[in-house]
Amino acid sequence: MHTSAPLIIANWKSNFSWEQAKNWADSFSRLQSQNHTYIICPPFPLLGAVQGHDFAIGVQDLSPFEAGAYTGAVSPQNLDGLNVTYALLGHSERRMYFAETSHSVAQKVELAFAHGITPIVCVDMEQVSEQSAALSGLSAQQRATLVIAYEPVHSISTFGGKEDPIQVTLQNIEKIKGAFECETVLYGGSVSPDNSLTYLQPESISGLLVGGASLDPKQFAQI
Ligand code: PGA
Repeated sequence: MHTSAPLIIANWKSNFSWEQAKNWADSFSRLQSQNHTYIICPPFPLLGAVQGHDFAIGVQDLSPFEAGAYTGAVSPQNLDGLNVTYALLGHSERRMYFAETSHSVAQKVELAFAHGITPIVCVDMEQVSEQSAALSGLSAQQRATLVIAYEPVHSISTFGGKEDPIQVTLQNIEKIKGAFECETVLYGGSVSPDNSLTYLQPESISGLLVGGASLDPKQFAQI
């Protein structure tokens, strides 16, 4: 049994128009289960389209800097009033296509904490030692709040979607908890209504990060 409701995150990546986002939020609100805590992470321009529902809102990235002369970056100040309480940081696509480093992820984590935003740091096993070293300055209280999303790159649907045996996933999650000295580790990579129970049953997995299957509100609600 999980002691708290599993966190189920929708990562829309760069999908949807304003109207599609509004329709998604309206449909999902009618379908969502009361047993999970949902966090919806739309692209920045669509944050306004998902307000006023019974789910939490997250961003998919954050500036490493406070508000100022940083063209194109989105600072915590820009998010004021948009009910953003979580930030996905260091997603493998950010690391791969946008040269995100463990160092810049650590700067973003610090900034998120300073503004009351809960960071959700995404890692593959390859990044665990470097990323945990970059976060070695976190306090015990911050580690208790920090969320890590374990996403093996080869398991992400758009990178092949090859699932590891659950025993391997659970062993890796234990290693991650040890390295980050944190409690809350989610799993992500090709999660769908067909396999979500496999990942939600073990007590050591606190929730799921869902990409492709989060784009359909019905499918997402079935997870
Ligand atoms: P996927 O994406 O569920 O489509 O594999 C997960 C992610 O990249 O966050």
